[in-house]
Parts: sequence; C-alpha cells; structure tokens
Amino acid sequence: MDRCKKDFGDDFIWGVSTAAYQIEGAHNTDGKGASIWDTFVQKKNKIFGKQDANVACDFYNRYAADLALMRRMNIPNYRFSIAWSRILPQGTGEINGLGIDFYNRIIDLALELGITPWVTLYHWDLPQALEDKGGWTNRDVKDWFADYVAICVKHFGDRVKNWIVINEPTVFTGAGYFFGVHAPGKKGFNNFLAAAHHTALAQAGGARIIKSLQTGSNVGTSFSCSHIEPYTARNKDKIAAAKADALLNRFFIEPLLGMGYPTQEIKALRKIEKYMQQNDEANLQFNMDFIGIQNYTREIIRHTLFVPFLQAKIVSAQKRKVETTAMNWEVYPESIYEVLKKYSSYANIPPLIITENGAAFTDELVDCKVHDPKRKAYLQQAIEQVYRAKNKGLNVHGYFVWTFLDNFEWAEGYRPRFGLVHVDFENQKRIVKSSGKWYADFLK
Ligand code: BGC
Repeated sequence: MDRCKKDFGDDFIWGVSTAAYQIEGAHNTDGKGASIWDTFVQKKNKIFGKQDANVACDFYNRYAADLALMRRMNIPNYRFSIAWSRILPQGTGEINGLGIDFYNRIIDLALELGITPWVTLYHWDLPQALEDKGGWTNRDVKDWFADYVAICVKHFGDRVKNWIVINEPTVFTGAGYFFGVHAPGKKGFNNFLAAAHHTALAQAGGARIIKSLQTGSNVGTSFSCSHIEPYTARNKDKIAAAKADALLNRFFIEPLLGMGYPTQEIKALRKIEKYMQQNDEANLQFNMDFIGIQNYTREIIRHTLFVPFLQAKIVSAQKRKVETTAMNWEVYPESIYEVLKKYSSYANIPPLIITENGAAFTDELVDCKVHDPKRKAYLQQAIEQVYRAKNKGLNVHGYFVWTFLDNFEWAEGYRPRFGLVHVDFENQKRIVKSSGKWYADFLK
C-alpha cells in the first residue's frame, strides 16, 4: 500500500534540505569572504572534473524563483544553511550587511510563501581566514563560532525559530581533518581529534547561546548515522563493527547526552583527552530540543589489521554485489528504521527528525522530462521505514529529503545528482523530476 502523508499525523514535519556552498554560487559577490571550500576546490586533484561551486545552482540570484517552485511543490519546511563567510567575511569582526540582507530575503520570502525556515548554522564552509589560524584544530574556534551564532540569532531570530547548529560533525572532521579529502584537506589523527573535540564543544556551546538569546527556539544538531552490521558472525568482525559504530554513530551524540566519548571500544580515542580542559566534559553536554538524523545507507564492517587505530574496514557495496546508488552506497531502506531504533533507545533522547535522506542516480533528460523511478522508489521505501518506526512508537517527528536541487556534491563535483529538481548547469534551467512530482503529490 502506498503510504500517505496523513498516516503520519498533522504534526509530522515534512521538508527538503540544502546547504549554502552546494547551491548558492556567488562565491565572492557582495562582500562574501572566502571559505575553506573556495580554497579547496582550487587545489589539484581534489574535486572530480576540477569542478567548483563558484556558480553552482546560482541560488544567490535565483532564490525567488526556486522558493516559488518549492511552494508549488507543496513543500512546507525548508532547511538551508548560512554561509558563515557571507555574514563575517573574516570569520570574526566586521559584519557584512549585504550577507545579512541575502538571508533576510530568503527568510522573508519563504515565510510569505508559507514555508517554514530551518537554518543550519554550519554546513562545512568555515571562513578561510579562520582556517588560516588553525580552523577547527584551534580551540578558539568555539568562541568564534559562538559569536557568529549570536549574530545570526540577533539578525534572524525574530523570524527563524528552528536551528540546526552543526551538520554532520563526524563527516567533516573525518573527511576534512583526518583523510584530507574534503576541505581544508588536513590529515592525521591529531588534527582529527582536535577538530572533533572543538566541534563538539562548539555544537553544545552554540546551542546554549541560541537558547539564552531566544525564547521559544527549537534547537537541534544533525548527525550522520548508518546502520552497521558485521560482515560475518566471527567475533573479530563483531568487534570491528562495534568500533565502527562507536566512531560513525556514537562519537558525537554520546558526549552531547552527557555520556562522554565512546573510548571503551576505541582505545586510541582516549588521546582526545589531550585536548580537554577543565569543565569541558560538562560543557559538551546539552539538552537539545531535537536531534537531526541523516541516513543514506548501511555499512558492513570486517576486521583488518591494516587500518591503524580501528582494525576495521567497510566492505564495499560493490564487492557485496548489492544494489547501489550513483555514490556506490547500498540501497538498504531498513537502515533508516534501524538508526531510529538505535537513537531512540538512549535515555533522555529528545525527539528525532530525519534532516536528510535521499539518493543520487544517473538521470536522463528526455524531451525536457526527467523520469527517475529509482529515486522515487528509494524515497517511498525510506518513508515507509520511517512510518514503521513511528508506528512502533519510536521517537521520530519529521523527514527532510536531501535535496531540492541537483547541486555540487563536494569532492564528487556535479556528477551525483540528488535533487528532486533537475538542474541544467549550462543554462540553470530547472525541471521537476518525476520523483519531485511524486513528493509534491504526497505532500498535497
Ligand atoms: C551532507 C550533504 C551531502 C549529502 C550526500 C550529507 O553527508 O550533509 O551535504 O550532499 O550527505 O552526500
């Protein structure tokens, strides 16, 4: 049976998500300062096809038509991020009024169209000026971030109530400060641990600031989560899976819930203590109003001696010969149910909202139409799993599709298309895909 919106009740929150760097373009327009992604895309061999997001979807100039389209697609909630370096070109200090104006225009128009804004304060685009001072590896970043958050609340808080403090700390600290495959391209365990700890502090600290400045605010933060299973029933694989789970799923939520870092499973994580100061443990804790869950796939983990610290590795979906998306991620709808179950089982967990879920597939434009049955099926199956979770009494209250428009998929460039709306990057033409039409119909 096809699920319908009313099965979820009137209070369930439906929406779409985007991120500033992936769609806005206008990378140096109207006083915007450079971000670490503006710098990173210029480095050799970092981005597929040497692409960048200098123009991306040109949302900076086309936001009005895009929001109108969102309205026509019956989308009631829009999650987008603010580019820190548009507000503070140097990361701290002088405010760029034109940057404030841009987000004011988006917020005002969204509200006028009946679309509720959900603002992510950090979706990976640190001002380059702050990276020059060490970025997330410099403990001062938590104070720079706190100042920036306060400025956003002061300027937008009269109209924005829903805030997501940080997007996927595990991914940006791992990819950006351990593996060096995302901006700023730093590598190594020490960089990663320092960045991770300062991010965790900034996350709780940022939320505390919003709550102190705005009564009635709804504050959360978003975590990347994957259901994890061992490759075989061998003990070694089970231990490896538990380690991967600690790193990928538990590392940031547990200190936030006051449980500390999950160092039991991964002894090497204890080195994070080197970056801890008095009161940090208490400061890492914060009672969020909601937790954003971002799920795309599951991971199968096996033991290996060749990966230092973890002795665990992912068995790729390709190797397992299972159905995949264009990101080579396994299509495994049950994952979303499993992560909701996992997070719901924490004591004192606040309401959960799926702040991202979606899929990239190779789309074909035929006669000005994009027929994408695989994406539609992916979303339908995911939504069915969210229903299953809700029906079992799990703590889930919303679902946002990643993403509205095809966009710049970080190191993968423009090749993977995740959008409900097709974008022709030559002429910026938008075409609602059949999955987008289906979602619009579902939301009616
Ligand atoms: C990120 C998005 C990204 C998406 C698909 C999430 O990790 O928040 O920015 O585009 O997944 O990879």
